[in-house]
Amino acid sequence: MSRTLVELDSRHEGSSFWSSLRTAVTGRRRSSRLPSAAAAGDVVTEARGATLSLDGTPVLRDVSVTVRAGEVRALLGPNGAGKSSLLGALTGDLPLDGGSVLVDGSPLRSWTATELAMRRAVLMQQIHLSFPFTSLDVVQMGRAPWRGTPLEETNEEVVAASLAATDVSHLADRHFPSLSGGEKARVALARVLAQRTGLLMLDEPTAALDLKHQELVLQIARRHAASGGAVVVVVHDLGLASAYADQVTLMARGRVVADGAPAEVLTAERLSEVYDYPVEVVEHPGGGAPIILPARSAAAVPPR
Ligand SMILES: Nc1ncnc2c1ncn2[C@@H]1O[C@H](COP(=O)(O)OP(=O)(O)O)[C@@H](O)[C@H]1O
Ligand SMILES: [Mg+2]
Repeated sequence: MSRTLVELDSRHEGSSFWSSLRTAVTGRRRSSRLPSAAAAGDVVTEARGATLSLDGTPVLRDVSVTVRAGEVRALLGPNGAGKSSLLGALTGDLPLDGGSVLVDGSPLRSWTATELAMRRAVLMQQIHLSFPFTSLDVVQMGRAPWRGTPLEETNEEVVAASLAATDVSHLADRHFPSLSGGEKARVALARVLAQRTGLLMLDEPTAALDLKHQELVLQIARRHAASGGAVVVVVHDLGLASAYADQVTLMARGRVVADGAPAEVLTAERLSEVYDYPVEVVEHPGGGAPIILPARSAAAVPPR
């Protein structure tokens, strides 16, 4: 192998183009460290004292968060609080100015991109895909990290199960750009599920979804945690978080305001302050998780 190729390899670690080129040239694929199953309660990823500025604006200020196997953690907070930035820090897309991120107990940078993709799947807030891939193509992309491993044999069955899980099997042959916003979001989530990773990192997966599919997505998250996985999910609906999350991290202005079980963190007083709007926490008449909603006094609603 030429020296140039070795250098390019290390800079583009995990890129499928370079790994296929390497396979073509050397006849082998560098072996990746395969993930092992985590026990409930094991820390799968964490940020410690994360600090980050973007274009001179501080967006994360000493943020620490821990994500454990068997747990759904919701990231909450008003627009601009730093939720997507924190996910970006956890994925490594946004390199930190200070603090650290660990994945399976080792620094983020000690893993190759393929090894990371075997451990966690990421649903970004914005999905840009203008090339006319079908939904099936998009979901099949989720299997890329397992190429060349024994798990490749399960591709077809995993892709079918992932399409079914997010209720998009009927859209498999449709071109992705032609789908509605909510349909796109569900296909994108199916891709993430097809990756079959222990950790799911989902940025506003429910933002474009109708009521039924919002519940479905959080139920998928719960089942994933119940089967030993871990989920970190950004949602705006505080009622969804209170019903489905084990732990919530409430953020504002780049800081963690509160962290803990939903019932402890999501109080009317704290939420009213953080959202700068009066919020009510109401007991669910059917005995479910509390209902959290804006306080709409007659005075707050302009006349019709
Ligand atoms: N590239 C950037 N340059 C400057 N500020 C940015 C940049 N990206 C994001 N921000 C700012 O960082 C803050 C946090 O953004 P973000 O993490 O996306 O918030 P959230 O996901 O909680 O709505 C916001 O005020 C946003 O405007
Ligand atoms: Mg965001």
